Amino acid sequence: MPREPPRLDFLDASGTPVHTPESQVLLSPELNEAATKSATCLQETQTQHFRVPTRCADPLPPRVVHKTIIQRIFNDTSPHRNFPPAHVSTLLHNRKVQGWGSYGAVFEHLIRRVKPRVIIEVGSFLGASALHMADLTRQLGIDSVILCVDDFRGWLGFQDRFRYLTTLNGDVLLLYQFMNNVVYHNATGSVLPLPFSTTAGLWKLCEWGVFGDLREIDAGHDFNSAWADINRAYRILRPGGVIFGHDYFTAKYDGGVKKAVDLFAWMNGFKVQTDGEHWVIDSA
Ligand SMILES: C[S@@+](CC[C@H](N)C(=O)[O-])C[C@H]1O[C@@H](n2cnc3c(N)ncnc32)[C@H](O)[C@@H]1O
Repeated sequence: MPREPPRLDFLDASGTPVHTPESQVLLSPELNEAATKSATCLQETQTQHFRVPTRCADPLPPRVVHKTIIQRIFNDTSPHRNFPPAHVSTLLHNRKVQGWGSYGAVFEHLIRRVKPRVIIEVGSFLGASALHMADLTRQLGIDSVILCVDDFRGWLGFQDRFRYLTTLNGDVLLLYQFMNNVVYHNATGSVLPLPFSTTAGLWKLCEWGVFGDLREIDAGHDFNSAWADINRAYRILRPGGVIFGHDYFTAKYDGGVKKAVDLFAWMNGFKVQTDGEHWVIDSA
């Protein structure tokens, strides 16, 4: 029996749902078969279609990941060395960590279960969830590196809510405040920023063979962003690893996160579980 496709409920230009329960019920068996075939076709060609590399470099051993990132991205010098630079030191706050669902029980549940050596977070902002994971791995005695892929630009208008972040010549100083939080947390040995777009960052990790045991997705929440991030992140998930993310239940951006997660799970034969506000896909 073909699996039921997920309900997507995209709206057309007039606001009418494109997939309604009625339209699915009304499909004849022949049309249903044709739809299933075309979905299978899409699954087979999805990687060309979305230009996601099918094959990444062979996985690096976890113990060399931290060093590799410092070499490849930071020209062999830790970004935390001599941090903060004098011209911004008075503009930063000692501890300004604020996030969304960043302390949910899901983090402890997954870290206890997966015991990740490499965690890749897509969307870190001020580091609330990354530093929470760093605390958990430290408490549980797991030697982990946490790579934080974020362009550290926030989003248009975010400073209306975060007025304490200073702008310097048009730069929102989000990367510096993130790094200051990492220093304040004494986590420079495990938490590293990758200050690039999720597309560029995840592409490079794939090219270098940097795989994660645990992947958290929490960057753009519209369907296209979430879809691209989940697919790219999945390419560099260690076999048996877990991919998870926030905002499964949010109605913002037309429920884009849920649509992307459900479609990804359906196309790859995974089951979506939820833990609080988070979605979880276990590839084991
Ligand atoms: C919701 S915040 C992450 C919150 C964080 N996970 C926490 O709980 O503390 C989303 C972050 O994603 C980043 N972001 C959004 N779209 C991005 C993109 N295309 N590339 C890189 N970063 C992006 C933003 O800069 C922002 O810091």
